[in-house]
Amino acid sequence: MSKPKVFITRQIPQAGLDLLQDQVELEIWMQNEPPPYTILLEKVQNIDGLLCLLTDKIDQQLITNAPHLKVISQMAVGYDNIDLNFATNKGIPVGNTPGVLTEATADLTWALLMAITRRITEGQEYIKQGKWTTWQPMGLLGADFVGATLGIIGMGRIGQAVARRAKGFNLNILYTNRRRLTLNLEQELGVNYVTLEQLLKEADFISLHTPLTEETYHLISTKELKQMKKTAFLINTARGGIIDQNALLSALKEGEIAGAGLDVTEPEPLPKDHELLTLNNVIITPHIGSASYKTRSQMAIIAAQNLLVGLQGLPLPYCVNSAVYNNH
Ligand code: GLV
Repeated sequence: MSKPKVFITRQIPQAGLDLLQDQVELEIWMQNEPPPYTILLEKVQNIDGLLCLLTDKIDQQLITNAPHLKVISQMAVGYDNIDLNFATNKGIPVGNTPGVLTEATADLTWALLMAITRRITEGQEYIKQGKWTTWQPMGLLGADFVGATLGIIGMGRIGQAVARRAKGFNLNILYTNRRRLTLNLEQELGVNYVTLEQLLKEADFISLHTPLTEETYHLISTKELKQMKKTAFLINTARGGIIDQNALLSALKEGEIAGAGLDVTEPEPLPKDHELLTLNNVIITPHIGSASYKTRSQMAIIAAQNLLVGLQGLPLPYCVNSAVYNNH
């Protein structure tokens, strides 16, 4: 019997490929950049399984162009690049890789928070520009942590991991979420449930951890930025589209808020001459929340497992549209 045909839209860690190599007929897009959409349209025509990334647009046209497709396995936890409703209507399960990237993403959230509040990159620039001529009693002062308030918007796995890390900093933690956590979990994490408005008004540091959906698109725009303290910092390691970036740019320029640490932007990649990159009170990293060795290997393994199981027509270990199984 011939092996199922699989297309992988980029090179992924070997641990994932090892699982696939003998099981499927594999084609891997070897270039550094994602396959252009028109090429992807061609590539999917004869495949049974697709292993894709958040940089690939998996829309109606693409899915329609893949009549044999049995499974879409995304190597990421977020899947806003995929038309999930359409895949579900077509009976195609979509897999993602939750859990394994929680800690790495929470780590990066803290890295950005510490870096922007304590002006790490600004400090390095200062040295490079030859300005470090003496120790300055008033130079490069930053925010204090002890007694400050951290506001977490979206209290899923990653939001909770961010809260856990806050313990050692003696912060007050507020959170808002679609659903309130159990009291036990609130107590364990040391967090207080509030409305978005209260969180925006009271937090010194705000971190976003919601998926990008119709409800969260531009959740943080002009009105919300105005509600924040002028001394507050905004961190985003979730998805760029959750923030209205033009509104953020104005708020940062006008001093409506103190600064921002962004691992995600709109668009991605952010053009190198984007005005946000000219501001001192912004740190931007190129969507590297899950970019640790172990995490990316684990993501590749889960993506490969989802793919293999999906090719066999069995329920995926991590499926984001389990409604596909209700119709059968
Ligand atoms: C990364 O952003 C992911 O969704 O895994």
